[in-house]
Amino acid sequence: MANKQSEKRLCKKCNNSRDLFVVTYDISFLAIIDYQVLKELLLFMETTVQGVSGAQASSHEIVMDVRDITKSLPLGRERIEILKGLSFQIQRGEFVSIVGPSGSGKSTLLGIIAGLDNPTTGNVLIDGVDIARMTEGKLAVVRNQKIGMVFQAYNLIPTLTAQENVEVPLYVGKHKGSPAARAKELLDLVGLSHRLGHRPSQLSGGEQQRVAIARALAADPPIVIADEPTGNLDARNGEKVLELIATLRDQTGKTFIIATHDQNVASHAGRTIRIVDGLIAEIDSTGGRIVQ
Ligand SMILES: Nc1ncnc2c1ncn2[C@@H]1O[C@H](COP(=O)(O)OP(=O)(O)OP(=O)(O)O)[C@@H](O)[C@H]1O
Ligand SMILES: [Mg+2]
Repeated sequence: MANKQSEKRLCKKCNNSRDLFVVTYDISFLAIIDYQVLKELLLFMETTVQGVSGAQASSHEIVMDVRDITKSLPLGRERIEILKGLSFQIQRGEFVSIVGPSGSGKSTLLGIIAGLDNPTTGNVLIDGVDIARMTEGKLAVVRNQKIGMVFQAYNLIPTLTAQENVEVPLYVGKHKGSPAARAKELLDLVGLSHRLGHRPSQLSGGEQQRVAIARALAADPPIVIADEPTGNLDARNGEKVLELIATLRDQTGKTFIIATHDQNVASHAGRTIRIVDGLIAEIDSTGGRIVQ
């Protein structure tokens, strides 16, 4: 029902639309729409998506509990085992890096703990609620309320300004205050108050990644997950983005989880989970930086 109505609105609007683009944000849908239509669609979704019972913030110190997850996929007549049984816990306020060679399963793991993909077996508890086998509707709410995502290739919407990109998550779910004011506040926090009206093509790679980080923080999620956030940046800009993440972690008390194949990037985190061939090879907690 919800899909039919939203499709109808889209078609009606898109007939008159001058500025079409592809939106892949939040990733449970792909649509060609313009900014006004996007706002309307997301407001419409807000009225149709129910809250996730029991997913409110709790006083548990463990924000994420990953229990023996596996992931296998069909490949021809065989099945390829990508994750082979990983368990770990992440405490509220930690900055954790997930490291491992290319192909070891980092992105697959991040997709699962971010609720973008399901494990084949096992559980992922976020604030005590298992997201491993939730319906797509409930998962979308969890993603919006609990998780901010940052991608290697930034994934900003090319026809929106920096400010509009940061506003996008605020049109999903219930969020207090003005999206524009919140977006400006966050862009100020990441040092981009002078770039509010710039589109992604008018920003440097480092600036685009800072917009993406501001967008990840927009809905005030307790967890921010970043897949190779410095992968497309030169050393200097990569360093700046990592410093920003560490500062934001200290200022906001949010939990940051980043995947990287770069040991130098990983060393910025307080704890490192090393994955080799779909298994945890080592958890290094020597630098545990947990917000008290
Ligand atoms: N849809 C798929 N079908 C089959 N195999 C897949 C699929 N997606 C990923 N894989 C395989 O799973 C393994 C892990 O992939 P993944 O992208 O998680 O690795 P990664 O550690 O993030 O690597 P990188 O550092 O290169 O980003 C790889 O060998 C990959 O080829
Ligand atoms: Mg990867």
